[in-house]
Amino acid sequence: MKDLTGKTAVVVGASRGLGRGVAVAFAESGAQVVAVARNPVALDEVATAHENIRPEVADGADPAAAWTLVDRYRPQFLVLVAGAVPVMHPLHQHTWETFSTNWHSDVKIAFHWLRESLLAPLDAGSRIVVVSSGAAVNGSPASGGYAGAKATQRFIANYAQAEADRAGLGLTITAVLPQLTSAGEVGRQGIRAYAARNDQTEVAFVSQRGPLLTPEAAGATLLDLVTADPATTAPGYVLLGEGLRPLP
Ligand SMILES: NC(=O)c1ccc[n+]([C@@H]2O[C@H](COP(=O)([O-])OP(=O)(O)OC[C@H]3O[C@@H](n4cnc5c(N)ncnc54)[C@H](OP(=O)(O)O)[C@@H]3O)[C@@H](O)[C@H]2O)c1
Repeated sequence: MKDLTGKTAVVVGASRGLGRGVAVAFAESGAQVVAVARNPVALDEVATAHENIRPEVADGADPAAAWTLVDRYRPQFLVLVAGAVPVMHPLHQHTWETFSTNWHSDVKIAFHWLRESLLAPLDAGSRIVVVSSGAAVNGSPASGGYAGAKATQRFIANYAQAEADRAGLGLTITAVLPQLTSAGEVGRQGIRAYAARNDQTEVAFVSQRGPLLTPEAAGATLLDLVTADPATTAPGYVLLGEGLRPLP
């Protein structure tokens, strides 16, 4: 069991799905967790169940929220999980607005929070995880601009690491690309759309894909990642039900 007593973790997108698993895992390790999401009801539910979790109702894509919360909490651990549920249509059924949904949320969130972390800057030794998607590598033809947005999050994480290194800040920034899982709303909508596209039931579609990633496994794995020696940490990983696989 890791002991993060005395440390602060900010988890953006902590009220549901994978982010909730991350917030709970960090809180159970003794960290003071600042849980960020927009819906206060779901957030209060998580905070009420765990004494180390403090809710902060905010839109993670709002630059003022990123500045305020980085400045207020100066976390040793920052995990950016939040993202929009993509509109699941084939390319020609998208409008520009539905196609670009994840650029206005996921990419914006990565951009603003990484920027504020570098500008603050966070203390040397701080760890930042950007939750992208396996779609960043594989593509996702039924979710418009989602895969490109998630690939851009991975690029931005790498750019931020390079700038942190150039300035000698001592930060470690890692992109993590989860596999599709029914444990969160993004994955549930993906499974529904791809099962229909393949003329399969959702159960049949999911059963081909190996052990499913759960929020608990995501939390435990990210906890291991941020407490590992940075010298042994890759810039990016695929996150599977069975753990992390480094990206080439
Ligand atoms: N589930 C999967 O299969 C899967 C696979 C690959 C990658 N991912 C990635 O993993 C992340 C989590 O996915 P999930 O399925 O767990 O999602 P989810 O169940 O929809 O949960 C998303 C969480 O982020 C919060 N959130 C969304 N937009 C936000 C914003 N603008 N500001 C603050 N909080 C925001 C939501 O709360 P509010 O709505 O109340 O703000 C919620 O707590 C996403 O980035 C997704 O792209 C998921």
